[in-house]
Amino acid sequence: MIQLKIIIASTRPGRKGPAIANWVFDLAKKHNTFETELIDLALVNLPFMDEPEHPSLQRYTQQHTKDWSEKINGTDAFIFVTPEYNYGMPAPLKNAIDYLVKEWAYKPVAFVSYGGIAGGTRSAQQLKQVVQMLRMFAFDGLILPNFVKQLNEDGGFAATEANERAAGVMFAELAKLHEALKALRS
Ligand SMILES: Cc1cc2nc3c(=O)[nH]c(=O)nc-3n(C[C@H](O)[C@H](O)[C@H](O)COP(=O)(O)O)c2cc1C
Repeated sequence: MIQLKIIIASTRPGRKGPAIANWVFDLAKKHNTFETELIDLALVNLPFMDEPEHPSLQRYTQQHTKDWSEKINGTDAFIFVTPEYNYGMPAPLKNAIDYLVKEWAYKPVAFVSYGGIAGGTRSAQQLKQVVQMLRMFAFDGLILPNFVKQLNEDGGFAATEANERAAGVMFAELAKLHEALKALRS
């Protein structure tokens, strides 16, 4: 089984990220290729990066860093569910990424971005630059423009058939990349 983690990037009260992430999570759970866990950065609740040494040295001093390292280390593939804030990635996601180095390396990551007309793509573009430095293999998994129109009364995400198809392609791509990158991690 591929260990897949779906990360909710936004943390503010009233955020819409969980609606989309829960939909992706439910779809991923149906895949017998993945063992999937949802990670909510609001619950992980990391402070602003507070380690005295460069994370690549892995000389962590804080328990929250050790816990975060363990969680990410045991993962094979990621989906970052992210909005764009002022044309960029949300700060809690950048902060969570910056805590670690080796734990991210040679792992695939798909972005599920959402927003207005641009569907959060500017956040995804920024993220590509950051994760590429960490030797992750990134791609646009799903782009959800004007996603608020797809939120139903219960606050859930009402996916279209096209959304579901695109999600299927994303899962297949993550599995393929995981196989290819495995050799680099050993
Ligand atoms: C601080 C902030 C900045 C935003 N900037 C953008 C933006 O640049 N582009 C965009 O399409 N939507 C933007 N929005 C609207 C978001 O797409 C929308 O609020 C979305 O629900 C944010 O994700 P979240 O609810 O998970 O926090 C912004 C929202 C916030 C709160």
